[in-house]
Amino acid sequence: MDQYPTIDYRLLVDNMSTAILLVDKDLNIFYLNSSCEALFDVSLTRALGQPVINILHAPNDSFDTHEALLNTLHKGQAYTRREAIINVNFKDIHVDYTVSQLSTGKSYHPLLLIELNSTDRMLKIAKEENSIQQHQVARQLIRGVAHEIKNPLGGIRGATQLLARSLNDPQYSEFTDVIISEVDRLRTLADTMLGSRQLPSYEPVNVHEPLERVRSLIVNQTKKKIKITRDYDLSLPEVKADRDQLIQVILNISVNAIQAMTENKDFFVDHQPELILRTRIQRLVTINGVLNKSAVRIDIQDNGPGVPEEILESVFYPLVTGRAKGTGLGLSIAQNIMHQHNGMIECQSVPGKTVFSLYLPWESNHVAK
Ligand SMILES: Nc1ncnc2c1ncn2[C@@H]1O[C@H](COP(=O)(O)OP(=O)(O)O)[C@@H](O)[C@H]1O
Ligand SMILES: [Mg+2]
Repeated sequence: MDQYPTIDYRLLVDNMSTAILLVDKDLNIFYLNSSCEALFDVSLTRALGQPVINILHAPNDSFDTHEALLNTLHKGQAYTRREAIINVNFKDIHVDYTVSQLSTGKSYHPLLLIELNSTDRMLKIAKEENSIQQHQVARQLIRGVAHEIKNPLGGIRGATQLLARSLNDPQYSEFTDVIISEVDRLRTLADTMLGSRQLPSYEPVNVHEPLERVRSLIVNQTKKKIKITRDYDLSLPEVKADRDQLIQVILNISVNAIQAMTENKDFFVDHQPELILRTRIQRLVTINGVLNKSAVRIDIQDNGPGVPEEILESVFYPLVTGRAKGTGLGLSIAQNIMHQHNGMIECQSVPGKTVFSLYLPWESNHVAK
């Protein structure tokens, strides 16, 4: 059998995505593989000798972890727990885990083998895929409706102009003017709903360029009433992107932040409105189900009242708006552009701190959707 290499089992265990823990007869940790080190964010040397119960048993858990572990150790009865919450370094992690007995031969006590899979990451991936699909369906629906609205508008406008001319009476022109201006308003709205028709053109972009463009636009608009702070990591690599579309994304999100701050003056009794533009490198980020080693992250943060709780989950969907005069299209268009760039936008919001984070992978195959 010379066609297969000899497998170094230690290497194999360290390359597995399942986290593995070995526990001795006193229920202390004596081995963890690389995945487990990554999951717990601790090194083998720090974890060595620690009682495993400290990790596996959350304080308010009614399950008797200690008893179950002993039972497996002595009787060999394996067990699995799903969606368990374990506590590592004061952080709650959701995992599925299986405990089984590892027999090591007659002269040694049996050990426990614990295999853990993080469900947080799985949940996040499933949730993202779901939301991308829903988002695409919604976008298509919106485009369809926009087409239907737009089609007759040209006819209505033309007919109204003819009517105005043939009536030739200032008494009626007031009415025909209303029709024409409302038709124009609808046409602008339908164009926004349809989104950009131009195909994106990708080129290497230093993300600070579009950020600075948007910043100068905002500075003029807000007339220094809002403090704008820059926190840039200038060592960021260039990304492949459509410069104009990136400006549109950053602008849509920044304008929302400015609106949230200027339209809620009561919120700022003891502090000044502030917009923070931040750039960072983000390691290990899952975008659209693909795990990227690193990506460029742009945060657009404000200290306003936050996204209303009732729309937080659906804020990227078209037509979802918390403002009386809003269209609910800004974030949907922005998310769509980011998907075309194989990137994504995430939002975290509590009163006083709202962060929209844009993630752009460095190198990717751009699929125009
Ligand atoms: N930074 C922010 N702070 C508070 N609310 C926000 C922020 N960004 C977005 N929102 C909420 O999300 C909604 C949707 O935004 P968007 O898609 O741009 O549509 P629109 O601005 O037309 O309402 C806004 O109406 C607002 O309620
Ligand atoms: Mg908006």
